[in-house]
Amino acid sequence: MSTKFQDLKNSPLDINDRDRLLNDIEILIKADNYWLPSLANTAALLYERMPDVSWVGFYLLKGTALILGPFQGKVACVRIDIGKGVCGTSFLKRETIIVPDVNEFPGHIACDPYSKSEIVVPLLKGERTLGVLDIDSTSKSRFTGSDKLMLEKVAELLTCNCKIEDFVDY
Ligand code: SME
Repeated sequence: MSTKFQDLKNSPLDINDRDRLLNDIEILIKADNYWLPSLANTAALLYERMPDVSWVGFYLLKGTALILGPFQGKVACVRIDIGKGVCGTSFLKRETIIVPDVNEFPGHIACDPYSKSEIVVPLLKGERTLGVLDIDSTSKSRFTGSDKLMLEKVAELLTCNCKIEDFVDY
């Protein structure tokens, strides 16, 4: 185990410190940048540190659909077609979508009936879109512009440092 990883384990938890969370995710990713453990640990750290989130995970492109990747939370749907739901729409538009109230989003896919709001961030690598990072909350209007900025940096860290494309099929 690397010194950097031990440092991270010993650091005090501060769920409101976005900069610290981002820094810790960067340490995790750079400690060992295989795509699968990096995505798994990123999902775990976001789930542990972000207040009031009920599900954190990834959907990755495989052929013509997004397939469930590493996640924390309840069992979720395995396949989402491109253009469908919040995930498929974010993937298609290549932009982050914040949904303050999932009941107001036409075509929202309800994996968890208690989910009330959601943010989906695309994983962009140059011209390619590799998948999305999806986070749900059981509170309405949970996600802010600050969350968007932080999570877009997380997505960039992942796409720049991990070969997610080893999984992705076009
Ligand atoms: N709500 C998402 C589906 C994935 S679950 O939230 C884990 C959507 O509409 O794409």
